Amino acid sequence: MLRAIYPGSFDPVTFGHLDIIRRSCKIVDELTVGVLNNNTKMPLFSVEERVKMLSEVTGDLKNVRIVPFDGLLIEFAKKMQADVVIRGLRAITDFEYELQMSQTNHKLDPRLETMFLTTGIEYSYLSSSTVKEIAAFGGDVSQFVPEAVALRLKEKIKAKRRV
Ligand code: COA
Repeated sequence: MLRAIYPGSFDPVTFGHLDIIRRSCKIVDELTVGVLNNNTKMPLFSVEERVKMLSEVTGDLKNVRIVPFDGLLIEFAKKMQADVVIRGLRAITDFEYELQMSQTNHKLDPRLETMFLTTGIEYSYLSSSTVKEIAAFGGDVSQFVPEAVALRLKEKIKAKRRV
């Protein structure tokens, strides 16, 4: 039984993340998408909102579950009984950070391996921040995120303008 975790902030989930989720759940038996509860990154969406959106857009995938986490990734992996961490590589600029993270995690827990999937070429430029920026200026984000997420973005930005 191969159990893996795919950790990230997912603020919000994009088609790029979904591409990695869909491809990895075909490779592993069980995939846990770990949603980082990290307030230092000042997320637009609360961890509960991010978990909810991810659950909605992965509802058709039977071996995927969405779980929030904080603290060290190696501890979360232990708790989920996962042997593998999955990360997506979009471009060479991701490589240095990802290499450092995977080597540090491996040093902290030699049992834990990191597996990299190259992000689909059509999503290699995509990030959650750019999606939020486009949405904040009233742009159309429908080619970057699922419809349900685009709707939440619109509502969230409207609500933020009211305060
Ligand atoms: N498609 C589209 N965008 C992608 C993507 C993909 N396949 N993969 C990453 N991204 C984007 C994200 O949207 C995000 O964009 P943003 O910066 O504009 O928000 C960016 O790349 C990186 O985000 P993400 O993959 O979510 O990683 P992260 O840096 O927010 O978090 C963790 C990475 C959760 C794995 C890491 O912080 C962690 O392990 N934290 C726990 C603490 C710990 O153990 N620390 C020691 C580790 S060495």
